[in-house]
Amino acid sequence: MARPRPTHVCTECGGESPKWQGQCPHCNAWNSLVETVADKTPARYAGLAEASRVAKLADVDAQEAPRRPTGIAELDRVLGGGLVRGAVVLIGGDPGIGKSTLLLQATAALAQSGAKTLYTSGEESAQQIALRARRLALEAAPLELLAEIQLERILATLEASRPDVAVVDSIQTVYSEALTSAPGSVAQVRECAAQLVRFAKARGTVLLLVGHVTKEGALAGPRVLEHIVDCVLYFEGDTHSSFRMVRAIKNRFGAVNELGVFAMTDRGLRGVGNPSAMFLSQHGEPVPGACVLVTQEGTRPLLVEVQALVDTAHAPNARRLSVGLEQNRLAMLLAVLHRHAGVACFDQDVFVNAVGGVKIDEPAADLAVLLAIVSSLRNRALPDKLVVFGEVGLAGEVRAVQRGQERLREAAKLGFTRAVIPRANAPKTPIAGLEVVAVERIGDAVAAVRE
Ligand code: TYD
Ligand code: MG
Repeated sequence: MARPRPTHVCTECGGESPKWQGQCPHCNAWNSLVETVADKTPARYAGLAEASRVAKLADVDAQEAPRRPTGIAELDRVLGGGLVRGAVVLIGGDPGIGKSTLLLQATAALAQSGAKTLYTSGEESAQQIALRARRLALEAAPLELLAEIQLERILATLEASRPDVAVVDSIQTVYSEALTSAPGSVAQVRECAAQLVRFAKARGTVLLLVGHVTKEGALAGPRVLEHIVDCVLYFEGDTHSSFRMVRAIKNRFGAVNELGVFAMTDRGLRGVGNPSAMFLSQHGEPVPGACVLVTQEGTRPLLVEVQALVDTAHAPNARRLSVGLEQNRLAMLLAVLHRHAGVACFDQDVFVNAVGGVKIDEPAADLAVLLAIVSSLRNRALPDKLVVFGEVGLAGEVRAVQRGQERLREAAKLGFTRAVIPRANAPKTPIAGLEVVAVERIGDAVAAVRE
């Protein structure tokens, strides 16, 4: 059979070009042409094709798919209760953060519970995987290993052994014979992922794909990768600390933004059942610039310490830097603070950090960020045992956040005695041991913590 002729398709507009060019001739986008296999379907039969059968929605057998728990509670939480038959899960994260370790632990546990599992690795040899399994005391698991990077052979092996769960570590190392570009290129990643997904859907195999991330921290490869899979999980956390977080960014079978928390130990990743106290740093007594926030991660409230450092700027442009929180939002909040609470930071460098390498993207962190900044600027610690949450708007109002009651209860459970929260989140019945200060404007909040 003749080899299919490669052609080039624009990732922006879908226009085709017979050869690679720097600029798409159709939409003029730069560097958007990628190699793909030419479509082999002869178009001349199109008119003779039979219409496909249409099913009535009510007639489709749509029973709740049984879930296969992975045996790792924190991973199941992120997946929404376990793996669904035929689901494709993409797991991304920085190098060395623990993707291979987690998948090896999960597949070993699945194999032990009777599922047929195949672990395909293009990054490590079977020996290296076996060594790792021994370190993790998993060598007894009936897990099948395959060290292979050629897509056609991987597919043939999958077809022959028909596993219940298959891992491909990583999608960037796999290449298809049909394309001439190098493994890891956009065209290869897209084609290989599409073929593997087709196999998973047709055979009901659960497919776990490992994906690399780019320097900017986004999943490498084309955006279509995220579109064709059912679930995108993302490893977060500082490689210098032992805590790792797995977050669901997309999940067709469960809630997104659910967070699984792990600790990396010398025996692999261990789930952290009650992570609330994990992101609080240990101070003997309250220090200026620290404020504890109750954030909500999926269905779970989490206490995180936000730290701010405000220091006199020595350059004409004062610096605004944030780690784990959104940078642009910080600039906006500083403007609100000046305008509506009369606290000026224009001649100050402002640094903000969320302790423990956690990323917070909900606006409920606003109030905590501002109070930490005020505390650092005045060099006065906030009251002891204080928690804060609330969104701050441009008009200086403190807006309600979701699940206020749950956040307050979690704080009370961990021994916090005071809370500064939005007026609209004030509890109707008092919570034992927690004194609640409900505020309407940012100025009130700043006044409430001045002692
Ligand atoms: P790995 O799973 O290989 O990362 P990825 O596949 O995401 O690139 O993780 C390797 C890191 O984890 C490495 O830095 C060593 C550490 N590690 C432990 O601390 N304990 C262990 O038991 C294992 C297996 C790895
Ligand atoms: Mg790896």
